[in-house]
Amino acid sequence: MTLEEKMGQLAQYPSQWSDTGPSVPAGRKEDVRAGKVGSFLSHYGAEATQEMQEIAVTESRLGIPLLFAYDVVHGYRTIFPIPLGEASSFNPDLARRTARAAAREATAGGVHWTFAPMIDLSREPRWGRVMEGAGEDPYLNSILARARVQGFQGPSVAADTTVMATAKHFVGYGAPQAGRDYHTVDISKRTLHEIYLPPVYAALDAGARSVMPGFNEIAGIPMHAHDRLINGLLRNDWNWDGVVVSDYTAIWELKKHGIADTDLSAGIQALEAGVDVDMVSGIYGDTLATGVQEGRLRLDDVNRAVRRVLRAKWDAGLFEDPFRYGSPEREDEVILSDSHRDLARTAAQQSMVLLKNEDEVLPLGDGVETLAVIGPLADDARTILGEWAGAGRAEDAISVLDALQNRTGVDVRYVPGLPDVRSTDMSGVDDAVDAVRQADAAILVLGEHYSMSGEAASRTSIDLPGRQQDLADAVTATGTPTAAVLLNGRPLALSTLDDSVPAILEAWYPGTEAGPAVADVLFGEVNPSGKLPMTFPRETGQIPIFYNHKNTGRPPVQDQDYTSTYLDTHWTPLYPFGHGLSYTSFAYGAPKLNKGSITINDTLRMTVDVSNTGDRAGTEVVQLYVEDSTASVTPRVKELRGMKRVHLSPGETKTVRFAVTPEDLTFIGPRMRRIVEPGHFHLHVGTSSADVQTSTFQLTGSTTPIPVTEISSPTQ
Ligand code: GLC
Repeated sequence: MTLEEKMGQLAQYPSQWSDTGPSVPAGRKEDVRAGKVGSFLSHYGAEATQEMQEIAVTESRLGIPLLFAYDVVHGYRTIFPIPLGEASSFNPDLARRTARAAAREATAGGVHWTFAPMIDLSREPRWGRVMEGAGEDPYLNSILARARVQGFQGPSVAADTTVMATAKHFVGYGAPQAGRDYHTVDISKRTLHEIYLPPVYAALDAGARSVMPGFNEIAGIPMHAHDRLINGLLRNDWNWDGVVVSDYTAIWELKKHGIADTDLSAGIQALEAGVDVDMVSGIYGDTLATGVQEGRLRLDDVNRAVRRVLRAKWDAGLFEDPFRYGSPEREDEVILSDSHRDLARTAAQQSMVLLKNEDEVLPLGDGVETLAVIGPLADDARTILGEWAGAGRAEDAISVLDALQNRTGVDVRYVPGLPDVRSTDMSGVDDAVDAVRQADAAILVLGEHYSMSGEAASRTSIDLPGRQQDLADAVTATGTPTAAVLLNGRPLALSTLDDSVPAILEAWYPGTEAGPAVADVLFGEVNPSGKLPMTFPRETGQIPIFYNHKNTGRPPVQDQDYTSTYLDTHWTPLYPFGHGLSYTSFAYGAPKLNKGSITINDTLRMTVDVSNTGDRAGTEVVQLYVEDSTASVTPRVKELRGMKRVHLSPGETKTVRFAVTPEDLTFIGPRMRRIVEPGHFHLHVGTSSADVQTSTFQLTGSTTPIPVTEISSPTQ
């Protein structure tokens, strides 16, 4: 390979967009013929990808196949709930299945490589990209990261129905200053290792073949030049040798960060730090060869990156058959198939969280013959797909209004009430109130337009946008039984809505089958089982607020002076992590431990009986949290270490079992090594992080910290 051809393999360019779909400009086709392109971004579709592959394989000197990459984050054409919504299911098997289905559709469309799962843990709901992740908890994020990687990559990336997964973004991008996207990240090394790195480790441990650094810096070093974390931690400490692909123009942005004054300097720093592929900036393809020719960049470093890219192509089977992905026949067979639509509906059902349900307003009963549907989002078939909706299309999707209008026996009166969710024009509210007065029940569809979350969509307030709260107040003032359905991409501050509306169903952005799934839950065909993967504060001013906080020296006691509370708002969240109600009720028996103390070599076994005390079958997500009572580093008040979905018929009781090992008790010690220390521990088990029963046990053994040799998450 010539030096130029080597650099070509490291260059990734975007496809152009037109009404007929992705297209590549003539000039870029010439680059492919010249061996100057290694991969494309957002070029998909069997026909479009085969055309470019034909040029690469038959018209370039070496005939090296192209890789086609795309952001298949929560679906390719069949769109599943946004990842934050899917995380509410606390169901890794579901996450694995939706990723698997997305990979089947994407590979039929010629895609080899997805830029997903997004594994940015975040406690920052002002940041729009929380919709793409799995919320605030390292354990839940890690479990879902594994599941999604396994779903995308399947048993082997060599299969022509699996795609290379990308653990993105590496690392800490979810902690931007003030919640403003792309802003500086400055977190302690301890927080990095305890909170933000575990999901990365889990994704790589599950076999993710690619990593994408974040746009952010960490404490002064931009991730795209972070040799210590990319080469040092990923490649050396964790022995991972996959492909690191930059984020969009992020190598060029090193100049904006202020650590490079030329394109060449930016390119050299990125490549030496371990970034193999340059997404879109053109620096690797156009400039980096000069660095080698001037002796400023080692050819070995270039060769190392080229080998990784070529191996990814080899592992995908492209050297054996460059055309094995992408098939119009397979597109017809799998895209928007009934089974994928069914899965999308199931995923949407399981993603919904019943936040409150006073007076059993929900489920809507047989007595509801006239239903008022209020709110502009009810009729918005694009918003329900959310951001990062791949090749999803509004025309494939079924809106909430469509589904409700299609229900037999219910006469639906739809009044938007507002022109759109941001509008302050209240002229339509009177019509809405009239419709509600004449109805047996009302559904308020409220939330955020899909463009209000996702990338570059931070908000300074996480209140309901516009005059939606005023619309809700006018509707509830009629006295007609009213429930709110929320379509949104982040936790919202809902104190006022909670005061005014008796029932609130968090539906997130549920995807292509949003409408049927919402109707299934509203009318009780499906009993909601979702739990919050991220805390809902009372007010924006409480952010950051998360369940696994520290006790502090003056733990908060509301209305007690000189404790860690506020003057103007109760210190607790409105809806805590793990919260979610059901149309039935569950009762927990007293937890039982098989022993009161364990040694480092033991496993503690806990059982708890859970009963369905209502008259409707339902699924409960039983949660287990661990608390270290005393440690050489301040412990968190509780940390999720187990979760089990339990389906119970009315009156049924099941014994739920958890096994707790010393590895579940580990933490990052004073010298930044993962250790476990003897002492007293509390086990909290229950229906949410704020509603638990507690039992205590002891870990006995030597008094010195016991280093855990087999770590399940990162250390130094
Ligand atoms: C974006 C995102 C990244 C995505 C990439 C390609 O800016 O940060 O997550 O994969 O560009 O679309």
